[in-house]
Amino acid sequence: MNFKDYIRVVEDFPQPGISFKDITTLLKNGEAYHQAIEEMRKLVKDLKIDVIAGPEARGFVVGAPLAYALGVGFVPIRKKGKLPYNTIEARYDLEYGKDVLAVHSDAIEKGQNVLIADDLLATGGTIATCVDLVEKLGGNVVGAAFLIELSELQGRNKLPNINVFSLLTY
Ligand code: PRP
Repeated sequence: MNFKDYIRVVEDFPQPGISFKDITTLLKNGEAYHQAIEEMRKLVKDLKIDVIAGPEARGFVVGAPLAYALGVGFVPIRKKGKLPYNTIEARYDLEYGKDVLAVHSDAIEKGQNVLIADDLLATGGTIATCVDLVEKLGGNVVGAAFLIELSELQGRNKLPNINVFSLLTY
């Protein structure tokens, strides 16, 4: 299946010059969504994974079904102010803006093997922050898996010690 056929590219969203990769057109197609998650599962099948962590919001759409397919748990990394219990937080730069990410302080046990999953690797700022949060909790990041990697933005360079897996590259 050519997954790129299911991804809509919207120019100049949300700002002039940004070529937005809209995955909603893939998600609404049951077969394409299922196959995409299945292909991501194959990419990471040899890793030893205890739990998947993924950032709000699109990271949930990829990370949760991947966790389900692998039979492991899912830890949501959320924007500040959304999680009800004790959290640790980290501020980060986005491709277009800044934000703060948070995770429950008891979400990951020391020494657990964690795969981080998201829809998109752009500048890498989001995932570098997720790695930081997971490592602060004592988790061992075994990799980062993406539906899409924007290679021009060189997000991989922000993740020098991380195994990066991406299904599609633009
Ligand atoms: C998008 C995307 C990734 C991140 C990638 O999320 O889903 O998480 O940006 O960019 P980066 O590699 O430059 O950090 P966004 O923050 O727009 O939030 P959303 O998923 O809630 O739309």
